[in-house]
Amino acid sequence: MCGIGAYIGDKDASSILTSIIRDLEYRGYDSCGIATYSDGKINCKKDIGKVSDIDFSSLKGNVGIAHTRWATHGIVNFENSHPHSDCDKKMYLVHNGIIENADELRNILAGHEFTSKTDSEVIIHLIEDFVNAGDTVEDAFVKCLKLLEGAYAIVLIHEEKLYVARKGSPLVLGVGNNEMFVASDSVPIQKYTRNIIFLEEGDYGVLWKDNYKINNLDSVDVDREIKILNNNIDEISKGSFEHFMLKEIYEQPKTIERAFLGRISDDKVKFGGLNISEDVLKKIKRIILIGCGTSWHAGIVGGYLFEDISKIQTKVEYASEFRYKNPVIDENDLVIVLSQSGETADSIAAIKEAKSKGAKVIGIVNGVGSTISRMVDGGIYLHAGSEIGVASTKTFSSHLVVLYLLSVYLGSLKGTVRDPAKMLNELQEIPALISGFLENNNIEGVSSKYFDCDNALYLGRDYNFPIALEGALKLKEISYIHAEGYPAAEMKHGPIALIDKNMPVIVIAPEGRLYPKIMSNISEVKSRKGKVIVITTNGLEDGFDEVIKIPKVSEYLMPLISVVPVQLLSYYIAKKRGCDVDRPRNLAKSVTVE
Ligand code: F6R
Repeated sequence: MCGIGAYIGDKDASSILTSIIRDLEYRGYDSCGIATYSDGKINCKKDIGKVSDIDFSSLKGNVGIAHTRWATHGIVNFENSHPHSDCDKKMYLVHNGIIENADELRNILAGHEFTSKTDSEVIIHLIEDFVNAGDTVEDAFVKCLKLLEGAYAIVLIHEEKLYVARKGSPLVLGVGNNEMFVASDSVPIQKYTRNIIFLEEGDYGVLWKDNYKINNLDSVDVDREIKILNNNIDEISKGSFEHFMLKEIYEQPKTIERAFLGRISDDKVKFGGLNISEDVLKKIKRIILIGCGTSWHAGIVGGYLFEDISKIQTKVEYASEFRYKNPVIDENDLVIVLSQSGETADSIAAIKEAKSKGAKVIGIVNGVGSTISRMVDGGIYLHAGSEIGVASTKTFSSHLVVLYLLSVYLGSLKGTVRDPAKMLNELQEIPALISGFLENNNIEGVSSKYFDCDNALYLGRDYNFPIALEGALKLKEISYIHAEGYPAAEMKHGPIALIDKNMPVIVIAPEGRLYPKIMSNISEVKSRKGKVIVITTNGLEDGFDEVIKIPKVSEYLMPLISVVPVQLLSYYIAKKRGCDVDRPRNLAKSVTVE
């Protein structure tokens, strides 16, 4: 998983590389390093810790490579951090991905002294082996790539040249004026140049400061278009907020609006990039929603929307499990893949499976130009801007907006939506309601009473069941409190045994068709002395330990509102526990390993 960067040009490489890997820390932040070439040799500095913990300014030179790591092979220590070098320290390399046959290759590299336990170090020694046998560095690089099984994005530095390659892990080039940039995604490069090349699977390249070539592994020149990216790059800064996560929660009125802006016209929904005709969409018999983690939770909300509003049978699948079911798919299925990053390896594998069986695949992603956005038949961008906090927040709500629009759109095509104007107007009122809630709520106070609990249970029903799952995930990932989300009525089938006076139970219970039933579920908790924190549109009832009052909207839009208090609750609890909210332990923002 890891982020990699490289620079070649006339400027100070280490400062540019520091900026690139700082922006890539969402991909991992166990350890980091930079290697630059100057005065005929390569100097390298690396260590465990975050980019801000290390001063790279002593590294001189105008060409270099950089890495920020999320450990897969080998523990987090100095030796396992990148860059890695050959025995003579003439070449250094950074790698993102997993080399599946690393152990096998290590065995054939007799005589090479390995300093790390990583799969990545095998690559540089393999290249060295070919060079020692008389190959040029480029030939050695290509021969090595042909032997690697698994996934890689690689940058190798040798003298004043960079060698890059991509298979299964993303890598983009920035083409500047007498300078070239490399990074795991385009965002950190766009500060320097908007001219971006997305390397394709199996590409390798050689970069000089004023030129580059891209070939396939048969050393045939391949033409890769330079895309001029004009999208807004948000300044990656926390502004006046203490953490990115809080900033991103507070951005939601704006990002929700951006997700529907330009997609509603004359009381109809229109999408620019679906690339599937209305005739084909009208014949869709089933939707399969696929994602991981928070994106999977958004998919569950989507399942309710498509069944309820568009009257289309819908399945929601974990991307990581999907292909192992040998799923039955045909041309009447529409597969929708949800992803913030657009780089999640499990989701990519699921797309390959769906496409191999002839399904039409749409991606709903935030990462502009990401791998998923480029491999699907049609797509809808979230336009939420960079999400830096590892815990997804604003992209979850943007996913919900797009799924809602899509359900109204498909429902209108199928004639199941009677009053689209009303439904779309309601959506447009949501940002103001969330702004009002963000300005005035009691969540910080509530969190101060429960931040030292060991366990928590989240309950919801109907459209709010996925919000219970999301609330539990948010709490566990950033505060390390064990939490579970359940449909409220399922509690009595097992989890009720956990309830005692120490167990906070967060119940998402807005008024609606199941309100009386969820109130009965709450009574079951209270009878067992559980602490009830109720998130509801009706703040008048007595008898709860805490009431968090949220604005009332239609049931199918309620998740957009009810997710905000669960996001804030986990944020404030994690902060009070002294956790690193934006960079929780063991996690990374983009999960590019299966
Ligand atoms: C949780 C979280 C993860 C991601 C998951 C999928 O806060 O962020 O669970 O949702 O790793 O990532 P994407 O959406 O990038 O495919």
